[in-house]
Amino acid sequence: MKVPFGDLKVHYQAYKSVIDSAVQRVLDSGYYILGPELQKFEEEFAQFLGSNYVVGCASGTEAIYLALAALNIGPEDEVIVVAHTAVPTINGISMTGAKPVFVDIDPSSGLMDPQLIEAKITSRTKVIMPVHLYGRIADMDSILSIAQKHGLTVIEDVAQATGATYKGKTAGTMAEFGTFSFYPSKNLGAFGDGGAVATKTKENYERLLKLRNYGQSKRYHHDEIGINSRLDEIQAAILACQIPYVKEWNEKRIEIAQRYTCGLSGIVETPGKAGEGEHVYHLYVIQVDERDELQSYLMSEGIGTLIHYPIPSHLQNAYKYLGYKPGDLPATERMAKRILSLPMFPELTDEQIDTVIASIANFYKLRKVSTSVGSVNDVGTIQQTHR
Ligand SMILES: Cc1ncc(COP(=O)(O)O)c(C=O)c1O
Repeated sequence: MKVPFGDLKVHYQAYKSVIDSAVQRVLDSGYYILGPELQKFEEEFAQFLGSNYVVGCASGTEAIYLALAALNIGPEDEVIVVAHTAVPTINGISMTGAKPVFVDIDPSSGLMDPQLIEAKITSRTKVIMPVHLYGRIADMDSILSIAQKHGLTVIEDVAQATGATYKGKTAGTMAEFGTFSFYPSKNLGAFGDGGAVATKTKENYERLLKLRNYGQSKRYHHDEIGINSRLDEIQAAILACQIPYVKEWNEKRIEIAQRYTCGLSGIVETPGKAGEGEHVYHLYVIQVDERDELQSYLMSEGIGTLIHYPIPSHLQNAYKYLGYKPGDLPATERMAKRILSLPMFPELTDEQIDTVIASIANFYKLRKVSTSVGSVNDVGTIQQTHR
C-alpha cells in the first residue's frame, strides 16, 4: 500500500460542497479584494482564537514582517529566534532590515530553549520570536517572563500550530502578536497562499490594516509606506468555511500521532510528550541516526516522508553574512541530521498508519539481519530475501 506524505485532493473531495459553494459565492459577488468575506473571516478567526483582533494578509512570511513593522522594528534592531524553523520565519524578520539572533533549542522539545535567551539579549534586542514548530507550543510562561523582565515584545510564529492550546489559551493569543500561515497543508489551509496576524490592541490592529494595504488610512491617503499583503476574498471565504472543522481535524491529528507513538516506541525516538492540547501535530517527526537510509527505504516502499528542516537557518547561504558556523547551535544541528517527518493529515487511515509503522519496524529488522550477515547497507537485497 502506498502512503503519501500528504493528500490535499482527498481533503478537497471530503469538503467539496462547502468549499465549492464558498468559492462560487465570491465569484458571483463581483467583490474580490478587501470585501465582506475577509471581514467575516477576520471576525470568525478572532473568535476561534479568543483574540481581540485578526488582520488577514498574503502569507505567513508577510504576517511576520507586518507584526514587526507595526512595532517599528528596523535595521538597528535585533530579534531573538530559533534556527530550527522554516526559513521564511527568518525571511520575515530580515524583510524589516533587523538582525536575526539565533538561540538554540531545548533538545527534549525541539523548541526555543528559554534558558539560553538571556545570554543573547543586547541593547539592540527588541523582540523574542518563539516558533511553535510542528504544532507544539513553546515554553511560553518562561519566554513571556524573560521578555517582561527585559522590556521586550514577544511575537509567536503560529504558522504550524493553528488551534493548539496552552493553559487555556490558544496559540497566537499569549503574546503581543501571533502570526499565522494558511499554506494549503497547514492545520487550517487555504487553496493558495494566505496568512494572518492576531493582536490584542486596537492600536496594533489599525496599524496592521494600513501596513498591509499600501500604508493607506483611507483611499489615496498614505500615512506611511506600506506593502500589498491582502488576503483575497476567495481565500478568505475558503478559510472561514473551514474554521468550524479545525478542532475536529486537530483531534484527528492527535489520534494519528498517538497511534504512531504506540507502534513506534522502542523502535525510533518518537516526539517528546507535550501537555494536553499543546501539540496539534502539524507534523509527526521521529528522530533516528540512520535517517537517510530509513527515508530511502520508506520511499522504496511507497511511503512519502520529508525533512523539516535539513539545513538550519543559521547555516543557510542566505544568512552567511551573520557569521555563524557549524557547531554554533549544537542541539539544532543534531536534530537537523536526525529528523524525519512521517505522513500526517487528518484523512490518514488506520491502515495507512499501520503500514508506515510496519515498514519502519521492518527496516530495523532487516538492518539487524544485514548487520549479523555483514552487509549493512544492502537493505534492498536483504528485503527481497527475507520477505
Ligand atoms: C514556522 C513557519 N513560519 C513561517 C512560515 C511562512 O508561511 P508562508 O509560507 O505562508 O509564507 C512557515 C511556512 O512554511 C512556517 O512553517
